[in-house]
Amino acid sequence: MFETCSKKENTALERRIKAVRRPHEGTGCSVRRFGPEHAGKVQAFHQSFPEYRETPLRSLGGLARELGVSGIYVKDESLRFGLNAFKVLGGSYCIGSYIADRLGMGQDALSYEALVSGSVRKKLGELTFATATDGNHGRGIAWTAQRLGQKSVVYMPKGSAPERLERIRALGADAAVTDMNYDDTVRYVKDMSDQNGWIMAQDTAWEGYEKIPGWIMEGYTTMAYEAWRQLEGKKPTHLFLQAGVGAMAGAVAGFFADLFPGQERPVITIVEPDRADCFYRTALADDGALHAVTGDLDTIMAGLACGEPCTIAWEILRDYADFFVSMPDEVAAKGMRVLGHPVEGDERIISGESGAAAVGFVAEALLNPELEPLKRELGLGADSRILCISTEGDTDQENYRRIVWDGWYPSAACGVKTM
Ligand SMILES: Cc1ncc(COP(=O)(O)O)c(C=O)c1O
Repeated sequence: MFETCSKKENTALERRIKAVRRPHEGTGCSVRRFGPEHAGKVQAFHQSFPEYRETPLRSLGGLARELGVSGIYVKDESLRFGLNAFKVLGGSYCIGSYIADRLGMGQDALSYEALVSGSVRKKLGELTFATATDGNHGRGIAWTAQRLGQKSVVYMPKGSAPERLERIRALGADAAVTDMNYDDTVRYVKDMSDQNGWIMAQDTAWEGYEKIPGWIMEGYTTMAYEAWRQLEGKKPTHLFLQAGVGAMAGAVAGFFADLFPGQERPVITIVEPDRADCFYRTALADDGALHAVTGDLDTIMAGLACGEPCTIAWEILRDYADFFVSMPDEVAAKGMRVLGHPVEGDERIISGESGAAAVGFVAEALLNPELEPLKRELGLGADSRILCISTEGDTDQENYRRIVWDGWYPSAACGVKTM
């Protein structure tokens, strides 16, 4: 285990980058449903929406040279369906799958045209989809419900950015901010859904609630499927994936674990904010139990501010992820600045706090001499081909400017402790 500390200027607060390795054989639970074969069908569903465009996979050759690796590829999800984040992939696929399942249509009949057809709408009547969200998932649910002529109810944790709330309301959702953290807001939505006959479309699973989140995770595989095609056969050696409840990371890790079985699998690293590092804690404890983080989950990475792991995601990450990283906000802020101010010749990527978390960690691991032992442990070097996903754009524009324009959360000198 490695620890580095980053000291925030003018505070006594000491926050560290911590990493734990989970050695394993690279075999385990079945990841078939997240593999390329099924992902191709999921992508065909998304492609049936008029808004569908493949998001770009940026090859940041200048940054790769600067950081001393062979390639850095970043998928830019700010361009997804005009919604500035990837989350709609899961929301639309789960609502589509739910409707197909309810009407006994079969997954193959799943398409935008079928879902908006008069006959389907007549059979369905009026449905209400409910969810808890930091913003991006709720926006995807509200957008899909509106597209399909259905209703949505969205609750957000306390402290949610007002601009995110307004964007969800603008899509016709009945939306409000609660005085609870994310995980308690999820429980609140469950109770409200049970009372009101709403369909809970939540992007995390727990025992007894796995069908809808499973569809949501399958929905995310469109990103991995597109990225793999865009790589044109160049296998990534390393994946860095940011996790909130872990559904996105689980789905993308599952895709690549199915594509490259056993020891062929790329090295997979999961990164989380240190204030909501439930996967890191679960991997570190390694006692078969899930370890939650409670309280305010106070981090700028709003999309990653989740204290309880998604059960389906943990099964996959337990068996296929190699490293779990817990890191302070400054690292994500650095990722935003690195992507927003590219090396000459590279494309600019506007990436929000959660979106830039993985790139921030990659930059820190490769640039910070104090992190040399961790870099070696990760097997990063001149031959490494790194794949990251910038999962959102500037979904909180006010904060984006504070960080990128005003220099909030400055990168700090780090000391390192190897354990
Ligand atoms: C922009 C962004 N990135 C990453 C994530 C993490 O996804 P998950 O909660 O599935 O781990 C989220 C979740 O809301 C998000 O909004």
